[in-house]
Amino acid sequence: MKSTGSNSTAEAFAGLHGVAPAGVWSAPGRVNLIGEHTDYNDGFVLPFAIPQRTWVAAAPRSDGLITLASVVDGSVVTAQPLDLASLAPGVEGWAAYPAGVAWVLRQQGITGGADLVIDGDVPHGSGLSSSHSLEVATALGLLGLAGVEASAADIAKWVQQAENDFVGAPTGLLDQTASLCCTAAHALFLDVRSGQQEQVPFDAARHGLEVLVIDTRVSHSLVTSGYAERRAGCEEAARLRGVAAVRDLDTEAGLPDELQPLVRHVITENARVLDTVALLRSDRYEEIGPLLSASHASLRDDYRVSCPELDVAASAAEKAGALGARMIGGGFGGSAIALVPAPLRADVEQAVLEAFAAQGFGAPRMFTAIPAAGAGRDL
Ligand code: GLA
Repeated sequence: MKSTGSNSTAEAFAGLHGVAPAGVWSAPGRVNLIGEHTDYNDGFVLPFAIPQRTWVAAAPRSDGLITLASVVDGSVVTAQPLDLASLAPGVEGWAAYPAGVAWVLRQQGITGGADLVIDGDVPHGSGLSSSHSLEVATALGLLGLAGVEASAADIAKWVQQAENDFVGAPTGLLDQTASLCCTAAHALFLDVRSGQQEQVPFDAARHGLEVLVIDTRVSHSLVTSGYAERRAGCEEAARLRGVAAVRDLDTEAGLPDELQPLVRHVITENARVLDTVALLRSDRYEEIGPLLSASHASLRDDYRVSCPELDVAASAAEKAGALGARMIGGGFGGSAIALVPAPLRADVEQAVLEAFAAQGFGAPRMFTAIPAAGAGRDL
């Protein structure tokens, strides 16, 4: 099978357009080690980039059109060309992500058309941030073609605007910041409120451990799932208590019954992020396991964004010897991670496969995630 990457994306571009692209940009997916549903509450997150990426080969056009093509199973699929001047929300399917970015950047004065050819190996709908990697790579490509330099913080905000106002998913800043700012061999400790970042060395292998990703293959959508409802609940809690965000609360007491578990999750999850960072800094990797499991229980029972497949993945991994396991991302499907002693990796995989089969679930996809580089220009 032909491998996916910047060269093959450039070749696909040349095959379609008859000329080489002006450049190729790429952006990774991410695993969030811990800190889930905290980003839009002004809290803490601790993601790392994964080696799987989205590549965007791009060249400018003088007629104001944005053309989009995507490599799917080795063939190039083209979308309807979009006129940048009249572009508006309502674009369907995968084209909505790059179109949304072009729409937001138009408001920043980037009005030139472009040919974009996209390829990638981040599994879709798997909670590994494939859509954000596409948006970030598109943003870098369009900015690069226009010769505009922008800060990662600005690009992250623009990508968030594309997601929120064009695609219609009210997501926070976790995924695009991870894709833009993560570095190889590190997790990114981000205080979403202040924007302050710290690259925390994260080398599980040196501690005889692996971060096993278990992609349940239950596809999730942050447009149609209960994501917006959870977010609205948190905003309501903050409003009722007269604070800017749930980040500012230290107890859920006194809030309406239905909001208490949401707030409890956010308070405890922020604390778990800080504890995890402290453990990483002092090389006490094994002690992170229980924090991951506590995060899963909190997302399952208090925040109620898990699903049976994620619960089975986490519990089967733990029973087979994982030190901890939890769902990652928005939830309602997608992936879980398990912190696994390397010698037990095969046993854990087998146990998860068997548990899925016993429940009649389709087989999950598993791989070890190693912290990789963030987004940038490849060619
Ligand atoms: C999705 C969103 C992020 C974040 C996570 C949950 O991945 O895109 O902004 O809210 O869910 O932590």
